[in-house]
Amino acid sequence: MDRLPLVNGLLKYINKEHSYFAMPGHKMGKGFRGDAASLFNDILKADVTELPGLDNLHNPDGIIKEAEERLSALYGSKKSYFLVNGSTSGNMIAIFSSFKEGDKVIAERSCHTSIFNGIILRKLNPVYIYQDFDNRYNLGIELSEQNVLNAIRENPDAKGIILTSPNYYGAAINLENIIKEAKLHKMTVIIDGAHGAHFIASNNLPASPISIGADIVINSAHKTLPALTQSAYLHVNNESLISKADFYFHVFNSTSPSYLLMASMDYSRYYLERYKTEWDRLIERCDRTRAKIESLGIYHILDEKELFNSKLDRTRYLINLPSQVSAYKLKDILLKSSIEIEYNDCNNLILIFSPFNTEEELDKLYEVLKGIDINSLKGSTIKIKYKFPKPKQVLSPYEASEQKGETILLKDSLNRVLKRAIAFYPPGIPCILPGELMDIDTLNMIEYYKENKIDALGIQDDKIEVVLERKI
Ligand SMILES: Cc1ncc(COP(=O)(O)O)c(C=O)c1O
Repeated sequence: MDRLPLVNGLLKYINKEHSYFAMPGHKMGKGFRGDAASLFNDILKADVTELPGLDNLHNPDGIIKEAEERLSALYGSKKSYFLVNGSTSGNMIAIFSSFKEGDKVIAERSCHTSIFNGIILRKLNPVYIYQDFDNRYNLGIELSEQNVLNAIRENPDAKGIILTSPNYYGAAINLENIIKEAKLHKMTVIIDGAHGAHFIASNNLPASPISIGADIVINSAHKTLPALTQSAYLHVNNESLISKADFYFHVFNSTSPSYLLMASMDYSRYYLERYKTEWDRLIERCDRTRAKIESLGIYHILDEKELFNSKLDRTRYLINLPSQVSAYKLKDILLKSSIEIEYNDCNNLILIFSPFNTEEELDKLYEVLKGIDINSLKGSTIKIKYKFPKPKQVLSPYEASEQKGETILLKDSLNRVLKRAIAFYPPGIPCILPGELMDIDTLNMIEYYKENKIDALGIQDDKIEVVLERKI
């Protein structure tokens, strides 16, 4: 057992009959049907390289070219690419293709960590837009359109803008006015749509950013479509960016791309084309179950009406619990009933659905929630103590990353400048970035996440890396 930790860890999962309300979108293989099921049932034999007739991802002129062209036609882009290194690589390609060293860019501060890594590597100077804090959820769940428009107008020298849409909670900011304003200022618009690969399936989902005119859009196929983990799409929607995107595509993708990943991405495209209506049926299932869960009078699920300037992806739930009720205890109860969720913090749970989650599974979710004695979940919540932090940027993220550093205890880090970001996973949004000053609000937020046992990147044995001897 000890000698094969990964193999044994995975074996435990594949022999379980669970409902998966988490990524990936294929839901433990249920999404692979017909020929795709035959292929993936023979997964080891299908793990090949560039055999005759199988084309080359880095120089496609055969089946991969055809598959990528079909993908581009479906999404309405100028050119689309299969990414074998997740949206992480797509975000890098987008940033490197759009900006030059030293450029000023406007970025949502709640972007995924890969965006900030791109900003560091490309040596950009970011100006951030923060979300407003939502007291009900103890989270920032939405970006203000007005704040984005203001940031564009106040920084006319910025070369582009990077936003996440939808975010982890399913909120997709209205992009029409933002893209119009950005274009007026000749800014490139990059949308990290990692969680929105399925939006083209239904008019009942938020609009695809490509259809609104974004220049580059990145989708993790694996998050919501029947595709293998790590597979993602890059859509370039601006002719003038294609040759750079071609180059950076090579830079950020393995020269030994997995045909299994590529085949699963081709299958997702096919599935979307052929079975689009399954998403409408999924939305109906989700809406029905949502109404039933709400009618219990205990749980609240984020509704589009609560969003000021965003549409909601109704195929995911952000379930908010009454105060004093522990999301951890609830998660454990769900797990005992063989229901896996995507994520929880102390107040909320996130569930991600795909067409491969059946009516029965959603009914079961409702029944389990209905049967819970909510009083038994009370008493162990770790209450939030922080104001939503906005740590001050005193060095550019690139400068700070290159400075000499020292490792110190987190508790001693007040007023120190970070050398490495601290991000909690999921969703991988950094609470503090290189070059930012540790303040009390940020420290409280980090403590809160730690107490909630959410995985931290950038903290090791309670220590973090700061810029050497730079005290303010
Ligand atoms: C908004 C966002 N962007 C990018 C990524 C990275 O995606 P991938 O895991 O496909 O590399 C994630 C992953 O969680 C994400 O949430």
